[in-house]
Amino acid sequence: MLHVNENYAKIKPTYLFAEIAHRVSAHLEANPGAKVIRLGIGDVTEPLCPAVIEAMHKAVDDEAGRAAFHGYGPEQGYAFLRDKIAKFDFQDRGIGIESDEILVSDGAKCDCGNIQELFAQDVKVAVGDPVYPVYVDTNTMAGRGDIALLPCTAANGFVPMPSDLPRGVQPDIVYLCYPNNPTGAVATRAQLQSWVDWANANKALILFDAAYEAFIRTPGIPHSIYECDGARSCAIEFRSYSKTAGFTGVRCGYTVVPKGLCAYAADGTSVELRPMWTRRQTTKFNGASYITQRGAEAIYTPEGQAQTKATIDFYLGNAKLMRKALEELGYTVAGGEDSPYLWVDVKGDSWEFFDRLLKRANIVTTPGAGFGKAGEGFIRISAFNSRENVIEAIERLKGVL
Ligand code: MLT
Repeated sequence: MLHVNENYAKIKPTYLFAEIAHRVSAHLEANPGAKVIRLGIGDVTEPLCPAVIEAMHKAVDDEAGRAAFHGYGPEQGYAFLRDKIAKFDFQDRGIGIESDEILVSDGAKCDCGNIQELFAQDVKVAVGDPVYPVYVDTNTMAGRGDIALLPCTAANGFVPMPSDLPRGVQPDIVYLCYPNNPTGAVATRAQLQSWVDWANANKALILFDAAYEAFIRTPGIPHSIYECDGARSCAIEFRSYSKTAGFTGVRCGYTVVPKGLCAYAADGTSVELRPMWTRRQTTKFNGASYITQRGAEAIYTPEGQAQTKATIDFYLGNAKLMRKALEELGYTVAGGEDSPYLWVDVKGDSWEFFDRLLKRANIVTTPGAGFGKAGEGFIRISAFNSRENVIEAIERLKGVL
């Protein structure tokens, strides 16, 4: 008899954003023509920047002739992109990451979800609560049941520390995401350094999701875990071009696995993770497309840097407007300063609040409960939308709240 992976029964039957899409479709069916403003899933709305478009057009031309045609590329990513990443995202910021420690992929979601395959089934995992659901769901699918939760609350500024680990819990893997999805919180260097020191002292691993680093504007806030001393020996970092450069539909990101970073075999022998991740990727993935990677490369040109920064500044401007309006309405709001997400304390059932905004204002948000128990009582509002829609949404919020 064919048996299923019963761990799938332990996760919610639909992914959070699929459930929201379903409710929005039902609402639109009942209210045809309603002008819904989507501030739910963090999907970008601004087009790709001109530097990226130009590079992708050129790459299409390359593919059109024999001279510069590319079939399968290197599974780890083309050197032209990995070299730029190493230089611009790390070395120019004083961080010693080499291009052969970078593996290009089709996005951070896949990498965050797939990385857990490298570890034994009985490793203990800790995540924030609330949290990006991918970390929990992928570990649950793999049979890791008792995931430890680190409460992210207003009391700790939504930044849990090693001392917040439940009594007696000693995780092998901790997922950290800063700027945080969903709370929009950022961690200081000292806070991240505490995690790095804790991980090194406990032979644990930090899986650091830096998908939103391009939104950091506050000076001194680390953009990379490798800004902390000792992080090379205890951390893997995920980066994404989705929010950085509007690649949600293009799909490209990368993962940094430093040379010498190890986990352990059952007999205590240390095993390097970079060759394992390379082996995993070269077996199950054929690389991001040449056209995509040429587009990503263009982000690092002076034009690409200026254009992507302008777009992020635009989204941050949206966040600022919405944060101000919500505060004027009497809500306590976190995030939205170094992040595209506002984390709004609605002091009540978050799905009910979500439904109220959808039904009465045609505004889609994300209920905090969808990110975990400690997310109850909050909603997440995304700043990814046009200015016109954001202004309209603010007017509607004023009307119903
Ligand atoms: C979100 O809304 O949380 C993100 O868009 C999810 C993602 O990046 O996969």
